[in-house]
Amino acid sequence: MSLNKDLINSLVKVTSRAAINCYQYLGKGDKKLADKAATDSMRNDLNNLKINGEVVIGEGELDEAPMLYIGEKLGKGNGPNLDIAVDPLEGTNFAAKNIPGAISVLAISDKGNLFNAPETYMNKIAVGKDVPFDATDLDYPIKKNISNIAEAKNKNLNELTVCILDRPRHKEIIEELKSLKVNLKLISDGDICGALLVTDNRYNIDLFLGIGGGPEGVISAAALDAYGCKFQGRFLFATDQDKSRAKKMGISDLNKKYELNEIVKGDSIFCATGITNTEMVAAVKKENTKFITETLVTHKESTIEIIKSEEPIA
Ligand code: FBP
Repeated sequence: MSLNKDLINSLVKVTSRAAINCYQYLGKGDKKLADKAATDSMRNDLNNLKINGEVVIGEGELDEAPMLYIGEKLGKGNGPNLDIAVDPLEGTNFAAKNIPGAISVLAISDKGNLFNAPETYMNKIAVGKDVPFDATDLDYPIKKNISNIAEAKNKNLNELTVCILDRPRHKEIIEELKSLKVNLKLISDGDICGALLVTDNRYNIDLFLGIGGGPEGVISAAALDAYGCKFQGRFLFATDQDKSRAKKMGISDLNKKYELNEIVKGDSIFCATGITNTEMVAAVKKENTKFITETLVTHKESTIEIIKSEEPIA
């Protein structure tokens, strides 16, 4: 089995060290520098693993960050053939301002099992496992999704909370949710963490939806799969360049709505280390001679846990 405990431990180290490398740039107001620090560390550490890895989800073209690019080969070889989705610094604004929400994150599967997605936007919906599969759909009107969730959870509409990126493009949805008296959690960035809030009732989020990054959608899907949650996504190809890139990547139906199991097939591992504090994992801490990190790890076939790691200060 290629996705095993040893690989999990190695990957926790990868996101952990990327988070630590980014730490020095927190609050410096330079998101590119912070992103580069996390990216360089992640690239270097993935290249030291005995894997034949290929980046299928890279990050950066949307904001011209120093990306780990799609198609980049990673690893020393002599190991399993893996698809890798990376977001070394998710929430570049959070890191630049040193405010909650920044994580270093990756997802891995056996070759061919992670969706090869271009860096475009994606319309997404996610709900927890306590909502029946047919109750929600990306193509249902908002009101239908909300009413069905309320019915499934035996709650009133004003007891539901929806998480959505606070963007002008979501104005209509937000207005409709307000008129339905649904509570909102408007996030300024970081829709991987936003999507993950449906995984546990303690976060009090009944529905995550809206348009965010496609790469972030694919990475979220790996974790949501391990939690047994529902996720659907539809890529939005705005320009002719986006469309022709998508076609080159083998996407023939540009309007297709993807189910979670079409985005992440089979087994997968997801690791997210806190850089600044998040609801799930704490920020990097510097203590005397060491850094302490927290990483949320999901392995579909074996585990969901938070791992604390220590790294000596170099
Ligand atoms: P970065 O870490 O690349 O800055 O992305 C942050 C983020 O908020 C993602 O979580 C989200 O998917 C995307 O940006 C939304 O894009 P936009 O800011 O263009 O609406």
